[in-house]
Parts: sequence; C-alpha cells; structure tokens
Amino acid sequence: MVTGAAGGLGLAVARRLAADGCRVGLVDIDGDGAVRAAAGIEDAEGFRCDVTSEGAVIAMLGRFEAAFGGAPDILVNNAGIVRFGDLLEHSVEDFRNVTEVNLVGVFLMSREAGARMAARGSGVIVNITSLNAVQPKPDIGAYPATKAAVAKLTEQFALALGPRGVRVNAVGPGFVDAGMSSPIFRDLAVRAESGRAVPAGRIGTPGDVAAAVAFLASDEAGFIHGQQLMVDGGMSFSLWNQLPRLVPEEAED
Ligand SMILES: NC(=O)c1ccc[n+]([C@@H]2O[C@H](COP(=O)([O-])OP(=O)(O)OC[C@H]3O[C@@H](n4cnc5c(N)ncnc54)[C@H](O)[C@@H]3O)[C@@H](O)[C@H]2O)c1
Repeated sequence: MVTGAAGGLGLAVARRLAADGCRVGLVDIDGDGAVRAAAGIEDAEGFRCDVTSEGAVIAMLGRFEAAFGGAPDILVNNAGIVRFGDLLEHSVEDFRNVTEVNLVGVFLMSREAGARMAARGSGVIVNITSLNAVQPKPDIGAYPATKAAVAKLTEQFALALGPRGVRVNAVGPGFVDAGMSSPIFRDLAVRAESGRAVPAGRIGTPGDVAAAVAFLASDEAGFIHGQQLMVDGGMSFSLWNQLPRLVPEEAED
C-alpha cells in the first residue's frame, strides 16, 4: 500500500514495488487519480482516502483487505503537502493543514495498518520524510517540523511494532525532480545550480527514492529498525562543501 500514489514519488514507488512482484494498492485523496494510476500497473488497485480522517482510513483498510485478502505487507506513508510563504506571515490554517497530512496522517495510517500487521506478526512500514527534516528552510511553514517529527515517530513505531514482527523505517529524499518539487527544477538555471550544490553532482530521480524504499521494504533490510535513510546525494552533511576553504594561512604550505 502506497499513500499519495496518484502521481509524483508515490507513483514511482508503487511502480517499483510492482516491478519487484508486489500487488500494489494506490491510495490518494484524489481517488480518480489513484484509480487512473493503478490502471497503468498490472494487478494494482486504486483507493480514495484522506489520510487525515480516522473514519476514512479505517474504511479504506477494510476495502483494501476485501480486495487483497488481508492487511498490507508493506505500507509506504508517502502522502504529503507543503505550503510556501514567509514564516512570519504564515497562516495557522496552512500550518495546521500541513501538520494534519504530514504528521497526523502518518500516525493514523501507521496505527491502523500497524495494528493489523502486528496481529498477523509481520509487515514493513516506510515513511517518506525529507532533507528538510534535518536541513530546515524558513519559507515552508510547518513542513520541516512535520518531517522531523515523522522521523521521531518512525523510531516510536519501530519500538512499538518491532517486537511484534513489524519493521518501521524512513526515507528522506533531497532535491528530487518529481511531484511537488518539479516546478522548481523546470527552470534550467535553478536545476543546474542545484545539481552543482549536491555532492553527488546531480539532483535525484524518483527512481533513486523508489530504490531506497524497495530496499527498506525487503528482507535484505531485516535488521534495520527505526532509521531515516537520507537519499539526497550527500546534501544533509555538505555544509563545509558549500563554503570557501577555511584553512589557516600557515597550514597552506
Ligand atoms: N518531490 C520532492 O523533491 C520531495 C523531496 C522530499 C520529500 N518529498 C516527500 O515525498 C512525498 C511525495 O511528494 P511528491 O513530491 O511526490 O508530491 P505530490 O504532490 O506529487 O504527491 C503527493 C500526493 O499526496 C496526495 N495527498 C495529499 N493530501 C492527501 C491526503 N490528505 N490523503 C491522501 N493523499 C493525499 C496528493 O493528492 C498527491 O497525489 C511527500 O511526503 C513529500 O513531502 C518530496
């Protein structure tokens, strides 16, 4: 099950998991979009669901169980939103909406799907965080705080569910040309400049993110619990790389 899978990174993850042999349920608040996206993947199904609604999440999991014969083996909490704007003028409404989707939505989905996985004794949850969980920006309101909170929630659910056979981890994408970030990278100058700033020398692709999700969802990651795997080409630790060389003169010789 992949949330926010009508497009962007979620759809790339759904396609990758399907290519790896999974039957995929694509969940989105845009139900038509989820159904359309599922139609392009063999044996997949689309489900409309607002992940911020407790009733909708429980009802959707019921529909999923009826269609797939049980609770999901893998849940990817990918649904997320961002609202741009000066932090000092940011509206409480935007702040609350982003928190509802990015944080409360992950909590609800993890609690409900996690309980069903725990009852069976197996399952994997992968949460999509962001480079902004560790490198915040001032012009995106609640977004960095919600992503940092999801990284902590990943550890909490790993502790709660690990002993019951369910692994929980997170993937933190950096600059990726997909979904909510693709308008930014349409500007070729911004794209080139951003690519130069990344230690890997390029911005990321949806496939880079999907590959990390597929790894964490696989048995190969069987002893990995509660981790946030940054998929950012090295951006999260590149501060010194961005600065001029700060070497004392005598050390130059
Ligand atoms: N694109 C990037 O560069 C990037 C970088 C870091 C992290 N991320 C994260 O990756 C995830 C996917 O982002 P994307 O870039 O593909 O954006 P996107 O906007 O293309 O996809 C987000 C999807 O979530 C769905 N959604 C929104 N609210 C929902 C709700 N209440 N219930 C169910 N579905 C809902 C949207 O309809 C949309 O299909 C997000 O969590 C985002 O924060 C993206």
